[in-house]
Amino acid sequence: MHNGADHWEKEQTDNNSKKKNMKKKLLVATGGGDCPGLNAVIRGIVKAAKQTSEWDVYGSIEAFNGVLKNPPEIVKLNKRVGGIHVKGGTIIKTTNRGNPFSFPVQGENGKTTKKDLSGDLVKKIQDLGFEAMINIGGDGSQKISQQLFEKGLNIIGVPKTIDNDLSATDLTFGFTTAVQIATDSFDKLVTTAESHHRVIIMEVMGRDAGWIALHTAIAGGAEICLIPEIPFKIDKILKRIKKRYKKGKGFVNIVIAEGAKLKDGEVVGKHAKDGDENIKLGGVGNQLRALLEKANCPAQVRTTILGHTQRGGTPVAFDRILASAMGVKAFQMVTAKEYGKMVAYKNNALTTVTLKEAIREYNHVAKDHYLIDTARALGISFGD
Ligand code: F6P
Repeated sequence: MHNGADHWEKEQTDNNSKKKNMKKKLLVATGGGDCPGLNAVIRGIVKAAKQTSEWDVYGSIEAFNGVLKNPPEIVKLNKRVGGIHVKGGTIIKTTNRGNPFSFPVQGENGKTTKKDLSGDLVKKIQDLGFEAMINIGGDGSQKISQQLFEKGLNIIGVPKTIDNDLSATDLTFGFTTAVQIATDSFDKLVTTAESHHRVIIMEVMGRDAGWIALHTAIAGGAEICLIPEIPFKIDKILKRIKKRYKKGKGFVNIVIAEGAKLKDGEVVGKHAKDGDENIKLGGVGNQLRALLEKANCPAQVRTTILGHTQRGGTPVAFDRILASAMGVKAFQMVTAKEYGKMVAYKNNALTTVTLKEAIREYNHVAKDHYLIDTARALGISFGD
């Protein structure tokens, strides 16, 4: 599948020699972290396009990098989408190092500098004959979509993230799969915590939002749930643990979001030296373990960091359905020329929002969200 450049050149040759391809051309890219459901979106776009017999759909390999390469690494997708909705990942690959406004370029001295290649990118997409583009990505990718739209590109966004942190849409595909994976792991950690009378901390992803942690804590039946939106205190957590041991129920399962932090503390993470501009969150579960041990926790404490397992594997049925619907909707937006907009899922229906609106606000868990209330009523402590 990955031999994009060869394929692209062959495509061009075919087109030139036979002069038969009068169809309109649509470009698709997946950017940022991968997420279960990306392939279902791609399949939705291609299948909807096929129905019209007027469009050919192409994929840029590794987000915008495929367009910027010489020759471009772009593949025709028309015949490549059979059954892919079941597969995790993305058949056209992705990267978090492909921001065209700050693109890493290696100079002759071997040093990498950042260059704004956005103008070249827009021109190249247009010169290659693409009428429009669909960019499937999270908030970072949709910020880029908006900037490219302002530069004259006919672009449409499809929201993607396991974190569910885009406020313009009630849900993003991939989130439900991530919660299922986390819940399955949580269930396993409960039986081992029970056998050993241990406190087991499970750290989940979610960036600056506690959605995955909150949903998993309720689904799994955690005693304690720690999220970025509610800073925690060690004495409160210890109190909850001691109460549980006193009652003879000698084990505790904690879910902690990677972005959770101590009251008056900082998030735990660091910048990777791999060109990714975002801070890599991770390790707060180990920090909590050390703090509990120091505070004479009445039991052994262990930490499990789930990491990228939450993004892998096959999407659950709901995510396949939501992703397919978003793909079809995005294609319909292309035919209606609704450029500069993003697909959104609101009140059990698909709708559109401007990209500007879509990137305006981060979707934090509100302290009065009904699931916070549910969790508290179920006896889950937020460590506050
Ligand atoms: O945004 C999705 C996400 O999985 C976050 O939950 C996590 O913080 C981050 O991406 C991890 O990024 P990377 O794949 O670059 O390590």
